Amino acid sequence: MTIAKQEEHHLDHDGMLIAQDWATRYSETSHATWASLINSMQELSAKTSCSKLLQGQEAIRLDTKHIPKFSDLTAQLSRSTGWEVTGAHGFIPNEIFFTELANKRFPMACEIRSLDGSQFQEYPDLFHDIYGHTAMLMYPEVSKLMQSSARGILKAIKMGRQDLVKKIAAAYWFTLEVGLVKERGNIKVYGAAVASSPKEIMFATEDKTPNLIRFDLDRVMRTDYNMLDLQRTYFVLEDITELEDLAQQDFFERALRLENMPTLAQGVIDASDEIIQLGSDRSLVIPTNTVEAI
Ligand SMILES: [Fe+2]
Repeated sequence: MTIAKQEEHHLDHDGMLIAQDWATRYSETSHATWASLINSMQELSAKTSCSKLLQGQEAIRLDTKHIPKFSDLTAQLSRSTGWEVTGAHGFIPNEIFFTELANKRFPMACEIRSLDGSQFQEYPDLFHDIYGHTAMLMYPEVSKLMQSSARGILKAIKMGRQDLVKKIAAAYWFTLEVGLVKERGNIKVYGAAVASSPKEIMFATEDKTPNLIRFDLDRVMRTDYNMLDLQRTYFVLEDITELEDLAQQDFFERALRLENMPTLAQGVIDASDEIIQLGSDRSLVIPTNTVEAI
């Protein structure tokens, strides 16, 4: 199927998925915003991103002057992991979003942030989606992790198990969006939400406020999170190759095994946590094992 045909095929889900309309959608100002964002990020990313993310960005060779075309990103990704990029109309419902991911189609925001809001975005925009996600999607284990977590979430949605949705979405969130990894003793970024936000990069890797805890999947899946703010706790992989094991998980089954375990509120330290950095906001540290499910 040609890319043009694919775009046509995805104009569905009640208008939530849309064509990028690259030629007509973007003004010179939009392209200039993209150029400014990507150029200003590169120096910071070189110091703070994990090497795998940097190599992925090198391989995907994003245009630094103009907003990339989704069709070009699809062509690149189809050669590595077979992903396709589609346009999305704003913030789309979970069921549609995860149905697309389960089928290796990434719905991307078509609109780009303004330079005023370039430091941190509550909702994903085009810069977040392209700069944050496409490079890592070049890797089979990241492709598989995104697909397998999406499948788990969909299964839970279809069974009406919102409690399990939250657990699997936490695994997705604390890896693919706000994931950190140790690299030669330093804390580096691989998650897309952090990687596309200068403010959150500095907060997660330099600031003493958040807790940094060694990644443990069961612990992560029990953790509450807030998509609209900086995290009180980040989870750190010992090595980026741990994503390969994570990608093999049956997330639905894993969440089911944890169904009777209480959720841990943001910022809470659990007795079994391997602490890398105890956050400086002491009001966040609540004694363990007694936290009610929320
Ligand atoms: Fe994202």
